[in-house]
Amino acid sequence: MNIYLETYGCQMNEYDSELILSILKKADHQIVQSADEADVAFLNTCAIRENAHKKIYHRLDEMRGRKKRGQKLVVGVLGCMAQSLREELKDNAPVVDIIAGPDSYKRLPGLISEACGGDTGYDLSLSEYETYSDVAPVRVPGVNAWIAIMRGCDNFCTFCVVPYTRGRERSRSPQNIVEETQAIVAQGFKQVTLLGQNVNSYKYGNYDFADLMKMVGDVPGIRRVRFTSPHPKDFPLKLLQVMKDHPKLCNQIHLPLQSGSTEVLDRMNRTYSKQEFLDVVNVIRDTIPNVSLSTDIICGFCGETEQDFQDTVDVVEQVGFDSAFIFKYSERKNTIASRKFPDDVSEEIKTERVKKLVEIQRAISLARNEKEVGKTFDVLIEQPSKKNREEWLGRSDHNKGVVFAAPQHKPGDFVKVKITSAGTHTLRGEIVTPAIAFCV
Ligand code: 5AD
Ligand code: SF4
Repeated sequence: MNIYLETYGCQMNEYDSELILSILKKADHQIVQSADEADVAFLNTCAIRENAHKKIYHRLDEMRGRKKRGQKLVVGVLGCMAQSLREELKDNAPVVDIIAGPDSYKRLPGLISEACGGDTGYDLSLSEYETYSDVAPVRVPGVNAWIAIMRGCDNFCTFCVVPYTRGRERSRSPQNIVEETQAIVAQGFKQVTLLGQNVNSYKYGNYDFADLMKMVGDVPGIRRVRFTSPHPKDFPLKLLQVMKDHPKLCNQIHLPLQSGSTEVLDRMNRTYSKQEFLDVVNVIRDTIPNVSLSTDIICGFCGETEQDFQDTVDVVEQVGFDSAFIFKYSERKNTIASRKFPDDVSEEIKTERVKKLVEIQRAISLARNEKEVGKTFDVLIEQPSKKNREEWLGRSDHNKGVVFAAPQHKPGDFVKVKITSAGTHTLRGEIVTPAIAFCV
């Protein structure tokens, strides 16, 4: 069969799509690059906010059109939305033939056979054990490879649908993750990003996340190791120490704040207060002085007052994140918040707060980037710059995007770049030739 796969949502979904391709190839299916050539079209979906669902419904309408026009097409919805909206999706039959959640991908070859025989195939069981450790992801060659080190989440933040779509937390063995890292080095990748919903609860026997980071950093040939995301509660000092001491572990932490108000954090079940978050940031910066920090923030969570919002602004200003993803609260079905708290902040206020915070963060990001002007960084070249294909986009160890011209180089090369100017999202620089580096 010719299979077409589209991926939506987070890096974990990107990684899962690589697993799905592996499972399907092993079952002798071919992967095609457009739905026009496909016998089976899969959408690997996200459920984190309502706009993620809207995109998929729009895409399903398009698939319905294809079927009406006579294309013989089996359509499958995979991933988080499949898991959380099974009933609605079943009502969408006959456009949706296959529904499979994040723990059911090994069943896909069987589900495809059923669907091609005219049946609809659903598998939404959530496993407590599935880690896909025995599946080798099919990766597009490049600079960065993702490795999921754990699956699921046990935190039950009240706004979040992930514990319901991805099930209970389970960690992969460190030996298995090290072997996967060795494999990606052999394939030419320079950087690995370790993925988990809450990496500081990684636990396998006596190994914790700090042990794992060190083991991955020690793999010969790996040049950079990043991870996402830790939880601010109980941020392990041991991890900071390992990051500080190990040259391969990048000085970058994505630390989701969600809200700066202790009351809102309490309703979110985040288990830290405003002050505790600020304390964690201080410990991080004291241990790793040039660390870059990014975050996620939700505006307009249930019961958020103007004062609560001001607390968030206050934390954002005190911390001075390098960058932030800022979202409007979107009520999710079955979550604790949807059952316990009314979604009572109006759409207008949510939008207004997001806009205000984005403005504030833009100014902070720019100011922080301006401080980098004149410094020289080791930059890993990733890809051509989107604005000017003659230039490269690369990244510093502390995750700053840097644009520069270096025609003699290519993605995967490490170069020294001196920063000449700064924007909100990226820095511009000039390559420092070895001769100049020598003079300096
Ligand atoms: N509404 C808005 N944003 C959400 N996030 C998670 N759930 C929701 C929701 N219901 C955000 C959080 C999380 C990021 C991945 O998405 O900020 O860290
Ligand atoms: Fe969702 Fe909280 Fe788990 Fe992150 S830690 S996936 S926000 S429940």
